[in-house]
Amino acid sequence: MKPHFFSLLIAGIIGLLPLHAQIPATTAKMNAFVSGLMSKMTLEEKIGQLNLLTPGGGVATGAVVSADVETKISKGQVGGLFGVIGVEKIRKAQQLAVSRSRLKIPLLFGSDVIHGYKTTFPIPLGLSCSWDMALIEHSARLAGIEASADGLCWVYSPMVDIARDPRWGRVAEGSGEDVYLGSKIAAAMVRGYQGDDLAANNTVMACVKHFALYGAAEAGRDYNTTDMSRIKMYEYYLPPYKAAIDAGAGSVMTSFNEIDGIPATANKWLMTDLLRKQWGFKGFVVTDYTAINEMMAHGMGNLQTVSALALNAGVDMDMVGEGYLTTLPLSLQQHKVTQRQIDDACRRILEAKYKLGLFEDPYRYCDDNRAGQEILSADKKKAARELGARSCVLLKNSQQVLPLKKSGTIALIGPLANNKNNMLGTWAVNGDPQAAVPILEGIKSAVGNSAKILFAKGANISDDSVFAKKVNVFGERIDIDPASAEQLRAEAVATANKADVIVAVVGEASEMSGEAASRSDIGLPGSQQQLLRALAQTGKPLVVVLMSGRPLTLTTENDLATALLEVWFPGIEAGNAVADLLFGHYNPSGKLTMSFPRNVGQIPIYYNHKNTGRPQGDGPTEKFHSNYLDVANDPLFPFGYGLSYTSFKYDHLKLDKATVGLKDKMDVSFTLTNTGAYAGEEIVQLYLRDKEATIARPVKELKDFKKIRLEPGENKTIHFTVDKEKLSYFNSNLQWMADPGMFEIMIGSSSADIRLKSEFELR
Ligand code: NOJ
Repeated sequence: MKPHFFSLLIAGIIGLLPLHAQIPATTAKMNAFVSGLMSKMTLEEKIGQLNLLTPGGGVATGAVVSADVETKISKGQVGGLFGVIGVEKIRKAQQLAVSRSRLKIPLLFGSDVIHGYKTTFPIPLGLSCSWDMALIEHSARLAGIEASADGLCWVYSPMVDIARDPRWGRVAEGSGEDVYLGSKIAAAMVRGYQGDDLAANNTVMACVKHFALYGAAEAGRDYNTTDMSRIKMYEYYLPPYKAAIDAGAGSVMTSFNEIDGIPATANKWLMTDLLRKQWGFKGFVVTDYTAINEMMAHGMGNLQTVSALALNAGVDMDMVGEGYLTTLPLSLQQHKVTQRQIDDACRRILEAKYKLGLFEDPYRYCDDNRAGQEILSADKKKAARELGARSCVLLKNSQQVLPLKKSGTIALIGPLANNKNNMLGTWAVNGDPQAAVPILEGIKSAVGNSAKILFAKGANISDDSVFAKKVNVFGERIDIDPASAEQLRAEAVATANKADVIVAVVGEASEMSGEAASRSDIGLPGSQQQLLRALAQTGKPLVVVLMSGRPLTLTTENDLATALLEVWFPGIEAGNAVADLLFGHYNPSGKLTMSFPRNVGQIPIYYNHKNTGRPQGDGPTEKFHSNYLDVANDPLFPFGYGLSYTSFKYDHLKLDKATVGLKDKMDVSFTLTNTGAYAGEEIVQLYLRDKEATIARPVKELKDFKKIRLEPGENKTIHFTVDKEKLSYFNSNLQWMADPGMFEIMIGSSSADIRLKSEFELR
């Protein structure tokens, strides 16, 4: 076989063979298999492969659940299922497909595995704040191992939608506002899920979502219209999807929003011209939940029309809506779609099944022994604790109140202090909130008998019962205490008065962010703000531990708190991870990946903004400059910001060239020293500004970063490489290019805390 393969390869390289003969042997084998199978399929069976259903029974993630699923599977009318988990159930459903349906084609089994499976890790926005690609990849690897042990082979992750508006609840599921960091994380997640071999029984196929621009919903209201220039798309919103695809993501999910006026699910430019032709995507595209049907509400026609539009656009699989199943036969008859389009879509689904090894063994992911070994295993819980601690961001630490001493009396106060229901965060559909470690438990086990821990609830997450009802759709996240707000507060103050230090755990309920959880006011609910005011009045040091699925407006809390620690939703090991930070077992190293605005009026707010012709500058606000009368331009906490228990000095910046050519690689080096008393990690950030471009360019853009660990007193020389890629951008013709001229280079501890800078010229 080998000589044959090599002669083919050489002939292919020198262009003697037609294109199909240059295909690698494994692909050729798959093509032959799929073609053989398709030659036996009826039109109905082909359309059946395009049908993805959810039989309910788990958490429904949309308004509809599918009916008659068993009958449809037996008739070959289903290509895959989601919302079914566990080896036993999946085996049963698979049996229906491979024993009852005529051609015995196995089903795909998908699930929303977003931040861990049963071992829930921190929400993705939290994970992104670790800036730790190896750890993020590992989190996806572990989630893939655990999900596949429970029968699944396909996960609806990573969610790579860039977002600049924290009112949008789904910022919790993404990696924040930056395109460079977002792209690195997208690729790391795909590598983690898919590993080196998709057909292995412990890897799963990734589904990058939501293609595209879902994070740019107007006014941060979920599912809302998006509208932006192509330059903005190419430069800031599309690259993370592309990075996931370049990393080999097997599938893509469409977004609900429109793009250039056409819903993504019917957008041929997006799904075919860009995704397949320009980017070379070879996998399959699935819609989001009933996204085809929803195009009727967008005003795109009736179910038959919108289903045909989706297929024409290049969308292969219809999630839940059954528009394909019920209307494509008629559309084919009426020449609204072609046989070729149906065949192409069917082929892509079958290829995915082939790549996952399902034709070889439909029960590949149904090993009865694996679930017991993998689910909630000790190594995964250990990783959850580590990830939990590394995702947190220390926003304030005056008087070095943190880390806490394990002595005296600590008053642990707040509605999230002894709470299991909210530790996992949004989109933890397979996790069990009751398995989570509450903060109180984590703190008690950290201090043992060395300190006294007192507890009081102090406030409800919200006192508003109408609001609570909306938030409590997946279970009670906000429980309104029978005691009055005044009583709760008085009890908390009395408890605080007995202590040396107060730790207040406050914030959002987990379902105050996530899908369909937009907020127009992103402050801490009033009940909790009043609690903090009362606690601050005691005069005791006040450590605020903040849980949230988005950046909040925190100017008041920042004034009241002695220390402020953003912990997002840390996941199943919440209490232990937070205790690790509070007592200094781990020195905080996370940095924000989204700006925290001072108020909602500043939104959208992001660090890589343009300068305008009348920039405000650093001085007092001036008339006829780009500013507000009532608030500063800058955020309260900027992108890239996060404190440590130690301090770092940056010096000796050196560029190895003053001018660089397009083919050069410039070495940028500096010295980083740990000048404090604790070992710690610093995320050093490299920003560039193009000062002479053909279009207006941002004031700075992240182009590289490193996470460096140093012992107290230790220093290291850090190197970055700057090359053409880092200096390029999309010009008005959407060409990726670099302009000769001057660039500013900045090395910072955050986007606003630039420690070293210089300039160089690109020749
Ligand atoms: C709708 C969500 O937008 C998407 O992220 C999710 O994967 C699907 N529902 C399936 O649950």
